[in-house]
Amino acid sequence: MQIRFATKNDINDLVLIYQGWAEFKGILPDQLVEPDTRDDLIQYFDGSNRSRKYLLATDDDNLPMGACYIDITFLILNNIRIGDMIVKKDFRNQGVGSAIFDKILKYARENNVKKIWLWTQEELESAKKFYTIKGFILEGKQKNQFCNKDALLFGLIL
Ligand SMILES: CC(C)(COP(=O)(O)OP(=O)(O)OC[C@H]1O[C@@H](n2cnc3c(N)ncnc32)[C@H](O)[C@@H]1OP(=O)(O)O)[C@@H](O)C(=O)NCCC(=O)NCCS
Repeated sequence: MQIRFATKNDINDLVLIYQGWAEFKGILPDQLVEPDTRDDLIQYFDGSNRSRKYLLATDDDNLPMGACYIDITFLILNNIRIGDMIVKKDFRNQGVGSAIFDKILKYARENNVKKIWLWTQEELESAKKFYTIKGFILEGKQKNQFCNKDALLFGLIL
């Protein structure tokens, strides 16, 4: 397995991974599970939007297994946010998410990050368990945060 920062050449693999949000159709609002398209993602790779760094997990044959992004908008304030973490169904519970998270931690330590946070949803059981195992604390429930729906705020202080 390899975890690396994605480049423009990886956009198609990210699109493939993010088609996995379809799994949550009917569980989460449609807008939240709308898969990212190439047009959505290109801005993060052509220099026009520098707020996100995407991570891609690939297997030994270079096939994509999972992805997420790090929102570095507040990096200067020692703060990053994890977004859109997903591992392909067939590869879950085999350590892929943990390997991605290790890479995030490495990035955080190298960049003097003191706080990692994320939004998730009550319905995402695997995510709630995963982040709790990683030491995140449920810091709050935000009312009507997205799509008229409450969101959960998880944070990890380093
Ligand atoms: C959350 C997610 C990314 C974790 O990735 P993963 O590759 O399955 O994670 P790992 O295999 O590294 O598992 C890490 C730990 O979480 C536990 N875990 C993961 N999913 C679990 C589940 N559904 N139930 C119980 N434990 C779970 C594993 O047992 C493991 O614990 P351990 O280290 O004590 O053995 C993955 O489950 C996923 O893609 N979920 C759907 C999308 C999603 O909800 N994304 C988050 C958006 S905020």
